[in-house]
Amino acid sequence: MVHTDIVKKIQELKARKNVIILVHNYQLPEVQDIADFLGDSLDLSRKAAEAEEDVIVFCGVHFMAETAAILSPSKTVLIPDPSAGCPMADMLDVPRLRELKKKHPEAVVVTYVNSTADVKAESDICCTSANAEKIVRNLDVKEIIFGPDKYLGGYVARQTGKNLILWQGYCIVHMRILPEDIKKMKNKHPNAEVLVHPECTAEVVNLADNVLSTTGMCRHVKESASEEFIIGTEVDIIYRLQKENPCKKFYPATELSVCHNMKKISLDKVLRSLETMSHVVKVEERIRERAKKAIDKMLEYSRAD
Ligand code: 13P
Ligand code: SF4
Repeated sequence: MVHTDIVKKIQELKARKNVIILVHNYQLPEVQDIADFLGDSLDLSRKAAEAEEDVIVFCGVHFMAETAAILSPSKTVLIPDPSAGCPMADMLDVPRLRELKKKHPEAVVVTYVNSTADVKAESDICCTSANAEKIVRNLDVKEIIFGPDKYLGGYVARQTGKNLILWQGYCIVHMRILPEDIKKMKNKHPNAEVLVHPECTAEVVNLADNVLSTTGMCRHVKESASEEFIIGTEVDIIYRLQKENPCKKFYPATELSVCHNMKKISLDKVLRSLETMSHVVKVEERIRERAKKAIDKMLEYSRAD
């Protein structure tokens, strides 16, 4: 089936079945184009919590769809490919988190949303890249366990001056962005502003003009007087940036920062998902209730953002 026919079918089924399509900024361009809402993890979780439609089709990785299912249990949440995972989310598991909690019984557990539902259920509060710094800054506690991302955690620790107990997880995609890539691109484009995601290593973050979540980058580019940008995150965000800012120029720090899990969602799979109402993402009620508390706390903290 040609592209336009698939899109037409998706639109028909969407209207008939009362569906909202939520899409992350790293999705393939053609999937971004069918979004009812395109955003970062924080925006998408807010949107999932507020959605009035009966069905949410989540075009992103599994933990994002799971977050939607935790926040909106009365809705049917579908992911077009359930194997679209986040390797970083799988780096933190409940038994090892419990062990760490036992060693630090006074510590508050701040967990990045890039985590599984059962890990969220073991946590006190969640965060995303957009609000991690604010949440940690506002916590008036002696000890904080932060996981799974050691780079986001390290960045937050440097920004807030707080000493965090860091889980040693990382994102394989952002690890591919090297300081040499940024230096090379800066030489090539001396007037370009460097924007990087906080999942990048400290060496890369230190070379950036701004450290932002994916939607943070989209907002910043619109407001900035700069006309050129070097982008240190997953490459397909550039499709959105270019579409929204046709007169500005964008250069990926490296073409290698591709999240293959995000690319598992295709238009074909979205259509199949709507036709067959699969794959349903559901979280066991006992876990869901506890995980929701940690996410709700995060949403409360960042209401004004
Ligand atoms: P954002 O919340 O900034 O969109 O980041 C999500 C993510 O998975 C980054 O790799
Ligand atoms: Fe996970 Fe990294 Fe992909 Fe984000 S870019 S979904 S952290 S693997």
